Amino acid sequence: MFLSTSFALFFLGSLVNAQSSDNAIGIAAIEAHFTGAGLVPSLLTSFDPTALMTVTFSGVGAISPGQNLTKDQAAPTPEITIVPANSTVSLQGNYTLLMADADVVGTDESVGQTRHWLVNGVTLTGTNSSLNVSTANGVAVTDYAGPAPPEGSGPHRYVILLLPQPSTFSPPANLTQPNVGVSVFHLTDYISTSHLGAPVAGMYFDVEQGTATATLSPTSPVISSTLKPASSGTSTSSGSSPSGSSSSSNAAIAIRGGHSVFAVPAAVCVLFASYMCL
Ligand SMILES: *[C@@H]1O[C@H](CO)[C@@H](O)[C@H](O)[C@H]1NC(C)=O
Ligand SMILES: *[C@@H]1O[C@H](CO)[C@@H](O)[C@H](O)[C@H]1NC(C)=O
Ligand SMILES: *[C@@H]1O[C@H](CO)[C@@H](O)[C@H](O)[C@H]1NC(C)=O
Ligand SMILES: *[C@@H]1O[C@H](CO)[C@@H](O)[C@H](O)[C@H]1NC(C)=O
Ligand SMILES: *[C@@H]1O[C@H](CO)[C@@H](O)[C@H](O)[C@H]1NC(C)=O
Ligand SMILES: *[C@@H]1O[C@H](CO)[C@@H](O)[C@H](O)[C@H]1NC(C)=O
Repeated sequence: MFLSTSFALFFLGSLVNAQSSDNAIGIAAIEAHFTGAGLVPSLLTSFDPTALMTVTFSGVGAISPGQNLTKDQAAPTPEITIVPANSTVSLQGNYTLLMADADVVGTDESVGQTRHWLVNGVTLTGTNSSLNVSTANGVAVTDYAGPAPPEGSGPHRYVILLLPQPSTFSPPANLTQPNVGVSVFHLTDYISTSHLGAPVAGMYFDVEQGTATATLSPTSPVISSTLKPASSGTSTSSGSSPSGSSSSSNAAIAIRGGHSVFAVPAAVCVLFASYMCL
């Protein structure tokens, strides 16, 4: 009784005091996931989010990075919320919300990605501690279209990103009006030609149908790496240096073949956003 009460009080105190570094560790974790899954640098040359994204599918709940979903589970439009890394992060104005199919690990991303979702003029509602990503007043260029990867093509990585629209935002003419169907575009070309800012938050999940018939490229295996708050000034992209130093580990993360499994001490788990521990 005493033990469990102390335990609970300890965690309550930790949660209050560690909220900000908690988010910073979460930021470092999602960066490591993007690198470990081969999304950085092949899809995005870099990924330095300032907020944590939660993607919630009806019937599934909040997903963890790289979670395997069935086509049916990923069919409904997910709800997106974000939490800024800390109180100095200001998130205001219009954003673009999109989802792109980065295909299987090892794909040559220069050929483009299938666009599954593209909404401009997205706004953030709610308090700064948890912001709803609202598409209500935006322009749904491409409505959310759930994944449907070809049978046997392997686990496709579906990447959801939120990017700021500066006043100079100028999307290509054929991606300006609503009801443009799912098609191939080139994500990073779109970002640069539209003058979008770097992603402030992102998440990804996997969908596979059937059994892969081709041999899939492995990622560089990240056996374990140290996650440190991105603001600590040390290497923020922990996942990019698989054999990097791993002293004073906050959390160990093992990433193989584009998938990841957290091996975190329970205490760290409690401090993480809940999706980190699923
Ligand atoms: C997803 O499924 C594959 C097998 O298809 C498995 O190797 C991988 O570990 C799973 N990833 C996660 C995050 O559960
Ligand atoms: C959110 O934070 C920004 C600055 O970071 C501030 O200007 C704004 O008023 C805050 N909004 C709420 C709802 O607290
Ligand atoms: C956001 O977009 C709306 C139109 O979609 C525009 O009226 C408004 O000025 C934009 N706000 C900012 C801060 O750019
Ligand atoms: C945020 O979204 C949730 C779930 O849809 C909703 O209950 C809540 O009212 C929304 N809050 C704001 C401020 O939009
Ligand atoms: C938009 O135009 C570009 C360049 O002309 C073209 O490559 C692309 O296929 C077009 N996209 C759509 C959705 O029509
Ligand atoms: C707040 O978070 C941002 C984004 O992760 C980081 O660059 C910055 O150093 C953090 N600031 C503080 C005071 O922790």
